[in-house]
Amino acid sequence: MKKYNISIIKGDGIGPEIVDEAIKVLDAVSYSCGFSLEYKEYLMGGIAIDVTGDPLPEETVTGVLNSDACLFGAIGGEKWDTLPRDKRPETGLLKFREAMEVYANLRPAIIYDELVNASTLKPEVIEGVDIMIVRELIGGIYFGQPRENDGFKAFNTMVYTKPEIERIGKQAFELAMKRDKRVCSVDKANVLEVSQLWRDTMEEIAKDYPEVELSHMYVDNAAMQLVRNPKQFDVIVTGNIFGDILSDTASMVVGSIGLLPSASTGDKTAIYEPIHGSAPDIAGQGIANPIATIESAGMMLRYSLGEIEAADKIDAAIKKALKDGYRTGDLAAYDAKEVVSTAEMGDVIANNIK
Ligand code: IPM
Ligand code: MN
Repeated sequence: MKKYNISIIKGDGIGPEIVDEAIKVLDAVSYSCGFSLEYKEYLMGGIAIDVTGDPLPEETVTGVLNSDACLFGAIGGEKWDTLPRDKRPETGLLKFREAMEVYANLRPAIIYDELVNASTLKPEVIEGVDIMIVRELIGGIYFGQPRENDGFKAFNTMVYTKPEIERIGKQAFELAMKRDKRVCSVDKANVLEVSQLWRDTMEEIAKDYPEVELSHMYVDNAAMQLVRNPKQFDVIVTGNIFGDILSDTASMVVGSIGLLPSASTGDKTAIYEPIHGSAPDIAGQGIANPIATIESAGMMLRYSLGEIEAADKIDAAIKKALKDGYRTGDLAAYDAKEVVSTAEMGDVIANNIK
């Protein structure tokens, strides 16, 4: 029997609750498809600060690097917001992404037919939306040096080197080849030098992919177009901060931020996490939507472990749960037959697999 080592980081807030449900579903699907998963838990974020004084303990870095893939919940909370920047959970997350060298962040935005009414946009605008946002994750203004805030003047630096743009660009084109073969590169080339290099480099990569249609869009226009007509997009490739913003926008196009998974991949390992945060305001109440995390576990099976049948089963089990009218509180207003807790949603999805 095939066996995989999975590192687990539950994190803060609703992190532990939603990750537990994803593990429940992973156990059901691995049993049904005949492979086994061994989990090892590591600390990160606020909880790691509380226990070890460090948002990213060394043990977490080595443990995850030695695993086949990492399933991640969410980190952060008010309790740690007043710490100096280098001690904050978010800094731990950025250091973690950097240490894992996960430069490509894949954020799919797919609409569930059952939830077209949950979006604030009109059903005819969003029906059939299937976008893959490819966000560069370990460069750009998030990591650029120098950076400073001396109380009077503050600055950050947006840097991209050609190799950094090339590797993320290739990922986007490779993904497009398996999809509708359209890449839209988003930048701000009318203002920023770094965006001009980005745009020129994308044009060069496109020469190696004659079947893929490349277009360019300024980020302000892209934000507008995502809301005006999201169906025009197939793959969007963009830098770190633009991708951060556009993926939150895309999440509302499809109805709930509680539905969107993500994969952060590189050449060494991959991290799978929901795109939403730790939602401390609802933590511990058993009302969080675990679907984004369960879907992230599905992406892990698909992209890191190559267990495609199992990943398909998770997708189908989620769809069936929604079709049968099960909703967590965030979606209670949208055709719910039964409003369920976080754990009940996990049970329903796991049972659909069995
Ligand atoms: C995300 C988050 C993070 C980011 C924060 C928590 C640092 O918003 O994963 O999108 O900005 O990358
Ligand atoms: Mn974000």
